[in-house]
Amino acid sequence: MTAVDSAPAHSLTGLTAVVTGGRQGIGAAIARALLRHGARVFVCGRSCEGVAAAVDALHHEGLTGARGFAGDLSEAGARHELLRDCGRADILVNNAGGFLEPTRTLDTTRAEWEEQLRLNLTLPFLLCRDFLPPMIDNGWGRIVNIGTVAATAPQLGNSAAYVAAKSGLVGFTRQLAAEVAHHGVTANVLNPGTIRTEHLADYLESSGQREEDLAARIPVGRLGRAAEIGDLVPALVSRSAGFLTGAVIDVNGAAVSS
Ligand SMILES: NC(=O)c1ccc[n+]([C@@H]2O[C@H](COP(=O)([O-])OP(=O)(O)OC[C@H]3O[C@@H](n4cnc5c(N)ncnc54)[C@H](OP(=O)(O)O)[C@@H]3O)[C@@H](O)[C@H]2O)c1
Repeated sequence: MTAVDSAPAHSLTGLTAVVTGGRQGIGAAIARALLRHGARVFVCGRSCEGVAAAVDALHHEGLTGARGFAGDLSEAGARHELLRDCGRADILVNNAGGFLEPTRTLDTTRAEWEEQLRLNLTLPFLLCRDFLPPMIDNGWGRIVNIGTVAATAPQLGNSAAYVAAKSGLVGFTRQLAAEVAHHGVTANVLNPGTIRTEHLADYLESSGQREEDLAARIPVGRLGRAAEIGDLVPALVSRSAGFLTGAVIDVNGAAVSS
């Protein structure tokens, strides 16, 4: 029996998680939820100051399992450094992502297209490829990729390249789930609807939209909260979630399109 088998099903104690883009927004909510369930969590971001501030805040909440990692994970050297710092990750949450401003297809430059694919699709692929071998060796692992509601429901006012990348993330995750299922590794996509975060504030500014107008299109009648995504993740990655894999889980207040 391994350490993973012997711990209670509802606890993540003894497990190590990596959360990319974990210093703010949805990523910070995911990190907090995993920490509350007992995991050791590497909060990743590009800036040393930003990551240090996020980890300090978590420590002040008594979540002492928080660790920080600052670096550009597009670079192989940074990913290997992260892997070395963690030892191994039992749980990988590919959350870093987003887009700068709404851009229709005809206004999208090739550079913007490639940047969106790099951040929202290639980066999760590279991290999965680096972190999977130790999961496979251990016979256990959990991967959660953060997509978007726009991958299944087109939205005017979005970025064509971002939607393409996040749609690719859905296909990639399903394929990956099938490939690693017999190794005890699961892979799922969580597709958030409109969630109030720092990123959303930038989006409102660049698109000229108002929060009330976005909320009016959501049957629940309001924007989502980051914790309403974060608090789902411990269940998705729990020891008892071994049969939940290859799933695309929409968390969007019943929004189907806008
Ligand atoms: N908020 C929403 O309504 C919503 C809806 C659907 C999907 N999502 C998805 O949910 C995830 C989190 O979004 P959020 O709203 O919490 O956004 P956020 O507050 O902007 O946080 C996103 C994180 O991604 C990282 N990131 C952004 N650009 C990056 C780049 N070029 N290279 C590396 N890292 C980068 C940032 O990390 P550092 O700056 O610390 O490096 C940032 O902390 C994203 O994948 C987003 O696409 C959000």
